[in-house]
Amino acid sequence: MAGLKAVVFDAYGTLFDVSSIAGACRELFGGDGDRLCARWRAKQLEYTWLRSLMGRYEDFDRVTADALSHSCAALGLELSDANGTALMERYNRLETYPENKAALSALADYRLMILSNGNPSMLEAVVASNGLEDVFERLISVRELGVFKPDPRVYELACSAAGLRANEIAFVSSNYFDIAGAAAFGFRTFWVNRRNEEPDVLGVGAAAVLENLGQLPDVLSAE
Ligand code: 2OP
Repeated sequence: MAGLKAVVFDAYGTLFDVSSIAGACRELFGGDGDRLCARWRAKQLEYTWLRSLMGRYEDFDRVTADALSHSCAALGLELSDANGTALMERYNRLETYPENKAALSALADYRLMILSNGNPSMLEAVVASNGLEDVFERLISVRELGVFKPDPRVYELACSAAGLRANEIAFVSSNYFDIAGAAAFGFRTFWVNRRNEEPDVLGVGAAAVLENLGQLPDVLSAE
């Protein structure tokens, strides 16, 4: 991977496990908790795409709260204001995946950044709650653009923030729509496919597919 100077990571689903909030959902809603957690994530992403297309951006924490509210109502689950606030606070403390810290340490020779739909306060909170403040040079949020992934302006923002060309950046995500957007823009993309999902048919693919983030250092040093 000659010429790579930075590794840019997606946050939610890649560095931080969005399913790690399922326990909190189960505490509140028992057997409906897992169904709520899955629907909540799907609706959260759907709302980012719709808001980008409509030109009606709102911060990711607002979109996430709206997706939670809709998902509870759609499942017939009563969500009190206190429980909604508690779940959103828990969302700022999502767990990282077990292999991530060692993998990030092995990448210390690269400039490491996050590029995420998350608004700055959300990203700062989840990075700090996992003790990763000193790992990333920058936490790049889409907020200054007012549009979400996979809009190409998001990936351009990473280039301008890093002062690098697209082909100098390795982009890492578990979310295939994000990989497709980054590949279409021109990044070298690495899909962390932990659940062995089928890639979407979007006309662009990943430069490499990994089972987990632990494989990334070897793949990057392969050349
Ligand atoms: C992120 O931007 C896509 O949610 C994912 O962090």
